[in-house]
Amino acid sequence: MMIKKIVVLYIAFVCSFTPCRGLSFAEQFAQIGYVEIADRLQEAEAFDALYKHFDVLITFLQANPKWAQKVNNAKERFIRSQDKNYYATDFFGFYDESKIRARSQISFYYSTHFHDFIKARYPELIQLSALVNFLESCRAIQQPYGEVFQKAADELGRGAMFSSAYEQVPILFKVVKYLSTYTPIKPHYDGTAFSLLLDSTDNQSLLLSAYKSVFTVDDFSVPTRMFPHSMLLIPGTLLAEFSIYPTPHVVMQSDNVRYATIAFAMRPYFILQKYLFSELPSFKT
Ligand SMILES: [Fe+2]
Repeated sequence: MMIKKIVVLYIAFVCSFTPCRGLSFAEQFAQIGYVEIADRLQEAEAFDALYKHFDVLITFLQANPKWAQKVNNAKERFIRSQDKNYYATDFFGFYDESKIRARSQISFYYSTHFHDFIKARYPELIQLSALVNFLESCRAIQQPYGEVFQKAADELGRGAMFSSAYEQVPILFKVVKYLSTYTPIKPHYDGTAFSLLLDSTDNQSLLLSAYKSVFTVDDFSVPTRMFPHSMLLIPGTLLAEFSIYPTPHVVMQSDNVRYATIAFAMRPYFILQKYLFSELPSFKT
């Protein structure tokens, strides 16, 4: 049974990296904005458990602001370390925007280096089961996606973009909870090489569009999936030098709380170049 499942997963994984209807990844990004990858490589139960751990962490940190401050201190120290440059971003740790009406979301940006930094420098934080269970859950889930990003870069003929002394793709792993008070303002581009939309409790809430020179609200729609438990790979802003332009996307309002998990492929030691992308339309009603 287990062997059969591994074979099915392998076939789904390999098939997803062959050109879809004769289209390369670059052509799919240009025409529809995303590449669908047949299997998300993790069981649904793993994401359910992750969201439960996240809720426990949120409850704990909201009730104990001094510990939330300590997690934030760890992040501030981490972004002054050498390892931060490997990710070329300042986004790490816990962001509670539940009280900011226009945002109404809570997120955590995980990376293995940030996790190891906490373990090495903040022994008091790794005593907190609410934090440790969540971090360990993140570490286990994000593990297979480096290979997906490397294959995607290879498919684009840009396999060297993730090369670094660390010999792994810098993955920033985001878990986000949108509250029912959340309302969309406008779409955005991700500041990543690729964003891999791994899982969501409501796929219908995410709209996207292929890149265009002029956008209207009507350009945005729910992506069509051929597989029920697939992942979607979209380009971010860090591939423009290769003439691959970012896919803008927006989360719409929903009656229910929505959880989502995204793996971001960053570019090691990347120095951001100025590039002006097309204006995005307002979704504010
Ligand atoms: Fe995004």
